[in-house]
Amino acid sequence: MKVTVFNGSPRAENSNTHVIASAFLKGAEAAGAEVQNIFLSEKNIKHCIGCFTCWHKTPGKCIHRDDMDELLEIVLSSDIICLATPVYLWNMTAHLKNFMDRLIPTKRHNVVEEDGHYEMSNSEIPRPKIVILSNAGFPGDNNFETMKMVMRSMEPALEIYRNCGMLMRTKDATILPKVSEYLEYVSKAGAEMASVKSVSPETLNGLSMDIMSTGDYVAYISRG
Ligand SMILES: Cc1cc2nc3c(=O)[nH]c(=O)nc-3n(C[C@H](O)[C@H](O)[C@H](O)COP(=O)(O)O)c2cc1C
Repeated sequence: MKVTVFNGSPRAENSNTHVIASAFLKGAEAAGAEVQNIFLSEKNIKHCIGCFTCWHKTPGKCIHRDDMDELLEIVLSSDIICLATPVYLWNMTAHLKNFMDRLIPTKRHNVVEEDGHYEMSNSEIPRPKIVILSNAGFPGDNNFETMKMVMRSMEPALEIYRNCGMLMRTKDATILPKVSEYLEYVSKAGAEMASVKSVSPETLNGLSMDIMSTGDYVAYISRG
């Protein structure tokens, strides 16, 4: 069992995303998985130019030679990949979007329809299960609506959406216990995904726990 995080935050190691992703990988590793963390902002990934060479001329192979050669191998050799990003303008960051565009060689050009939604079919290569992990700087869950819609096409096995995300790296001793409690649920989710590829209702419930009231959070982030 191999679990890989692709972190699309430009803040990489210093990101709130990394705090949550690390907890997820910690749980997966404790359950016996081989784990890997990749910061996409440190990789050389050219933009997809939409030529469809990877479908029609050289199926599965992109025209670009860059870090995506290695990253695509890591994607396809993973059992679970976690696509992790902060919310930027109600959606994923440009780093993660660029990476996801470059996953198009794993698709094929024939169109499939399900419930009125049209999609490209997956290639015959076995694909990993997908976990979506995101944190938003604002309170409330409306900031994730656009991303949830976009990520639906990835058929995620688990989605972790953390509002009040700027608390993840707090050093405030009065807030830390709640953050730790939340991160314990994230680790549990990592362990359960690595062992049974799904998450229990109890863990799912914990993943949506409140860490702080909206009023207190607004005051907290307004302090700067
Ligand atoms: C360019 C930009 C756009 C952002 N857009 C949103 C947004 O639409 N909604 C939101 O809740 N937070 C937004 N944020 C705040 C980030 O989601 C927040 O700071 C997050 O905790 C950063 O996570 P990271 O440390 O993992 O990069 C934005 C931040 C930046 C820099």
